Amino acid sequence: MFFDTHAHLDDPRFNPDQAQVVQNAKDAGLELIVNIGCGLDSIRRTVRLTEQYGWIYGTAGVHPHEAKIMDEEVYFAMKDLAKNPKIVAIGEIGLDFHYDHSLRDVQAQVFRLQIGMARELGLPITIHDREAHQLTLEILDETHAWDLGGIIHCYSGSWQMAGQIIKKGYYIAVGGVLTFPNAARIKEVVRQIPMDKLLIETDCPYLAPAPYRGKRNEPAYMVKTAEMIAGIKGLPLEEVGRITTENGRKAYRIP
Ligand code: NI
Repeated sequence: MFFDTHAHLDDPRFNPDQAQVVQNAKDAGLELIVNIGCGLDSIRRTVRLTEQYGWIYGTAGVHPHEAKIMDEEVYFAMKDLAKNPKIVAIGEIGLDFHYDHSLRDVQAQVFRLQIGMARELGLPITIHDREAHQLTLEILDETHAWDLGGIIHCYSGSWQMAGQIIKKGYYIAVGGVLTFPNAARIKEVVRQIPMDKLLIETDCPYLAPAPYRGKRNEPAYMVKTAEMIAGIKGLPLEEVGRITTENGRKAYRIP
């Protein structure tokens, strides 16, 4: 059994065959998927998915790329959607200083705002941090967001930073990048991290693991990432699936 803790099944690239992709996930042994709602339309599509499939849950957030769209209207519409019982986290939220699609100050402000919303709604957060490690940690400290519980998605930092994050109760999620030959840093993180802090995700349609690298990713492919973890940790694949699924349920508080 497996849990894809971060998917974008509402991405238009799944329009032609979304039902088949969900079936492929089931056939590959997945028992849970969390779909990430990024922006109002995507959150609405996510809610629809969670209504269609009992085993798909969702999140609500404004992605750092889109931080510039946040205003009062978006904020309250998002908050309303986030009250849906199948919305299990606020995310993905955070900072992306690689693409800088929104001004950095705006990204930081919208990140803080959504941490506040998570606090009001009593939800954990899913964090996107690309090339913004220091400010991400500063904002989490300053807003006391560690209390909320959360996940650093598509983790790309050092083991040293991961060690600090897990000590504060957050989870580290890894995806297809782990299977790339040059991924020494993330392999080291997986080698060091205690199994009870590790989550698996696809971030599909992005970042397909080897041997599908460069193709459209989908939840079923997460098994390749799980196999890589099993190899690094010296554990049976089923054990990796069982433990990371249990961790995901705890992180998103899915009973
Ligand atoms: Ni994502």
